[in-house]
Amino acid sequence: MEIVPITPHIGAEVQGVDLSLPLGNEEFSAVHQAFLDWSVLVFRDQELDREQHKAFGRRFGKLHVHPMYKERIDHPEILRVKTTANSTYTAGDGWHTDVTCDEFPPMGSMLYITETPEGGGGDTLFADMYLAYELLSDGIKKMLGGLVAVHDGAIPYVGSYKSTPPEGGYPRNEHPVIVTHPETNRKVLFVNSGFTSHIKGLKPFESRAILDMLYRHIASTPKLIARVQWKPNTLTFWDNRCTQHHAVWDYYPHSRYGERVSLIADSRPAA
Ligand code: SIN
Repeated sequence: MEIVPITPHIGAEVQGVDLSLPLGNEEFSAVHQAFLDWSVLVFRDQELDREQHKAFGRRFGKLHVHPMYKERIDHPEILRVKTTANSTYTAGDGWHTDVTCDEFPPMGSMLYITETPEGGGGDTLFADMYLAYELLSDGIKKMLGGLVAVHDGAIPYVGSYKSTPPEGGYPRNEHPVIVTHPETNRKVLFVNSGFTSHIKGLKPFESRAILDMLYRHIASTPKLIARVQWKPNTLTFWDNRCTQHHAVWDYYPHSRYGERVSLIADSRPAA
């Protein structure tokens, strides 16, 4: 197995692993360590059916069922990511961390892209939330340290995707603004423009100003970012606990298709 970094701190291509076969313990440990070291792993030229995709996911955790899954009856753990000329939106077209509205947001996601746009485009940007935290000044780190934010599924699923909420509504949960990664013990900035509605206990204008400042930091700091250029049959596995991502919809009217599985975290995000 060979690891080829995409940037010095986030993202690496992993060569020499066939994900259609069960990973042995040694291979699993090497992939797991690479996942912790690089946060975003890209596996090229993989031929996977849905069962093999799910089996790779299960090696790392219990499979997550997306809150919007209700329209699909087969493979509830597989989220289809499909954009065509008729799409009114493309999933993930904005900086976000997956499903942080859940009480236990996914610890990671594995997106397997099989169709890339004719003419190019459709890359995904990943941002390093360890570095985003580390680049803040000490005063801001201290201020954010005790704060808790609300993450609301209605923001993307109703607000952007116009889906009808399930009975009782989409999940809404609170998480610390700064969390500690449960495996690396490093601190992470954990608010995202996809799901975070506000910071608790602050005046609305204060919360808005702080969130906008943090989102501007993420969107305007190129060194946070690794860009994954997809080719058909690429699987990318990202650590949802320490990254954000943004799917770029620059390929209209062409199509792009992939399927994602996500893995439920064992623990809630904690400071
Ligand atoms: C997502 O999981 O947010 C979609 C990412 C992508 O399509 O690149």
